[in-house]
Amino acid sequence: MSREPVVTGAVDAPRITTQTLQNLKRDGIPIAMLTAYDYTSARILDAAGVDVLLVGDSASNVMAGYETTLPITLDQMIYHAQSVIRAVRHALVVVDLSFGSYQGNSKEALVSAIRVMKEAGAHAVKMEGGKPALEAVRRITDAGIPVMGHLGLTPQSIYRFGTYRVRAQDTEEADAIREDARLLEDAGCFGLVLEKIPAGLAQDVSSALSIPVIGIGAGAHCDGQVLVTHDMLGLNTDFAPRFVRRYAQLEKTITEAVQQYVADVRVRAFPSENESY
Ligand code: KIV
Repeated sequence: MSREPVVTGAVDAPRITTQTLQNLKRDGIPIAMLTAYDYTSARILDAAGVDVLLVGDSASNVMAGYETTLPITLDQMIYHAQSVIRAVRHALVVVDLSFGSYQGNSKEALVSAIRVMKEAGAHAVKMEGGKPALEAVRRITDAGIPVMGHLGLTPQSIYRFGTYRVRAQDTEEADAIREDARLLEDAGCFGLVLEKIPAGLAQDVSSALSIPVIGIGAGAHCDGQVLVTHDMLGLNTDFAPRFVRRYAQLEKTITEAVQQYVADVRVRAFPSENESY
């Protein structure tokens, strides 16, 4: 049987599809996913070789400054997604369905998913939850729209959890996640995010499922990893959970650059002759 070669990261790489992700899992190649909310960042992340760009409802926190992901609306998610889609040449773009846009019933969920696909040009949607989300997952996937699930610490349920601590440390919740993961796969999800759960549980779920499992704070044995871009670039220095690795210190870099600009303007060192007409 011939296998489609897996090519990721190159500037001339083909578009990533849900099938590419499936192939990456099959070939044991970890999937790299990051969040994106705007055109300029999405262009840079896409060209740098990220496989999946998630227009996450974490936009509610990092773009809009809300404390939780609950306030962001579907219209606002679509605005962010449109900006990202305009920039992307290779990555698969997955868009979070906002809180309240899919929990009511499966018809509302389908209408929301269709809006995201039609108005933003997204490639897939993501929604949180296990059993309560199954009917909506089935209805959306039946309409031909790829759905990514999300279990573990699901931020849209923060007021039910009451805390952002690690989930599923007890057997009951761990077993519920195992079962929900299997049900989501059966309902047609093409992938699953597991957030902030013990690494051993995430490893079990990743090997039990045939769809790719992407972890955030879920250890090294998932089929891929996702981080909020603002966290990994050091733009959110007041948010420092242990699962975030900082690959840059952009808050410091930006602060220094802006301080230098202000100082130059004050003493008329900017603009120079060469920067003038
Ligand atoms: O909204 C988001 O950024 C997410 C990731 C944390 C997976 O859902």
